[in-house]
Amino acid sequence: MSLYDRILGHPFVYHHIRPLVVGIDYTPQYEALDAGPDARILDIGCGGGDALRYLARFASYHGFDTDDVAISFARQRPESGRPNVHFATALVSSTDFEVIRPTHVMMNGLLHHLDDESAVELLKMCAATDSVQRVVTNDTVYLPGELLNNIMARLDRGRFVRDIEGYRDLVSRAGMSIAREETVRSHPRRGIARYWVMVLTRCRRSAAHRRFRLGRCATRLRDPWRPAIPGDFGRRAQSHRRHAARGSCRAGSW
Ligand SMILES: C[S@@+](CC[C@H](N)C(=O)[O-])C[C@H]1O[C@@H](n2cnc3c(N)ncnc32)[C@H](O)[C@@H]1O
Repeated sequence: MSLYDRILGHPFVYHHIRPLVVGIDYTPQYEALDAGPDARILDIGCGGGDALRYLARFASYHGFDTDDVAISFARQRPESGRPNVHFATALVSSTDFEVIRPTHVMMNGLLHHLDDESAVELLKMCAATDSVQRVVTNDTVYLPGELLNNIMARLDRGRFVRDIEGYRDLVSRAGMSIAREETVRSHPRRGIARYWVMVLTRCRRSAAHRRFRLGRCATRLRDPWRPAIPGDFGRRAQSHRRHAARGSCRAGSW
């Protein structure tokens, strides 16, 4: 690991300095995860366990990260004393998926650290696990015309920051569906960076439906902090129910 990565990844810099510079609030990402009291949450690339600040309810939480320093930090935070919270310094494997049987998978800030092959492999594990109802990804992204954002993205520790199509391509190669996608400011008022958030489901919709939905989303790169328009969400839910009724995916999966 380079000195640059070590400094930026140090828990003090990550949790105290970075929020002052970039402005960080992951509330929309965790709202998108929509974890209820029965959720078994698998947090891949959990870092210092920040997720526990946002997750009010779950049956169990399992954080995995390859960085031992981050996991040690996570284990020391007071929230790690909540019931059924587990941390592991490890690459997550298909055996972990079989044992944990996650219902909700969080990849907050992970995909831009992974090359295409590793990212697709991980998403395929989600696709192959029938307990998984929802996967949320959140990543630094290159956006056309967003100079400041793109400079921040270039300075990111992640070596695989992509543009929007690059992230969509990973999902498509893993055989998952994008139920919702949008850019989100790193903080509603102070955020100078933009993140690309995708809500993924295991069901594969028809190509026609995907073209219809992606076409709409591509023209909807709107002010990201704005909450989903209720009517719009309602229409998406209706469309989803129509597909569920036709048997192309499970009802209520997002
Ligand atoms: C940008 S940080 C995000 C941390 C945390 N999710 C958060 O929201 O604060 C990315 C994390 O992914 C971890 N990571 C990178 N590659 C990984 C892999 N293959 N498996 C698990 N974690 C990984 C890094 O060690 C780092 O802690």
